[in-house]
Amino acid sequence: MKKLTVLPQLLVATSLVLTGFAAQAQEVKGNAAAGNAKVWLCVGCHSIPDYRADYPLVYKVPMLGGQNAAYIASSLAAYKKGERKHPTMRAIAGSLSDQDMADLGEYYAAQTASSPNNPLK
Ligand code: HEC
Repeated sequence: MKKLTVLPQLLVATSLVLTGFAAQAQEVKGNAAAGNAKVWLCVGCHSIPDYRADYPLVYKVPMLGGQNAAYIASSLAAYKKGERKHPTMRAIAGSLSDQDMADLGEYYAAQTASSPNNPLK
């Protein structure tokens, strides 16, 4: 369980950082460069070799690099709304604005197998 105990601090730090990003009213257009500044939250799980996390059980963490941007943003929205149930992802998505989700979607969509040696893909 060790890894999960850092989550509350992580989320507090995150919300402090994310409140700095003004959510744009209706039209939310993702920006990969802005997403790049936000992935530090995700890389602990989504960039580990073989995409597995081992706490509290060994479970598979889906690969996001190269995934469709709209799919990523809508998955995050579904976690935030509770339509998708994974507790950790719900906690994380709960701290993200629509703009954050769109930015993260664009960032991950831009990562491909041929991206320069990018540890975050
Ligand atoms: C503590 C580990 C952890 C962290 C941190 C984390 N994720 Fe996840 N993520 C997971 C796991 C595990 C799943 C699979 C959950 C499920 O089965 O619903 C997942 C699922 C997802 C999915 C759905 C993928 C799919 O194929 O359906 C998206 C999108 C996602 N995460 C994005 C993110 C983003 C963006 C961040 C950073 C803001 C992030 N995650 C941070 C562990 C994590």
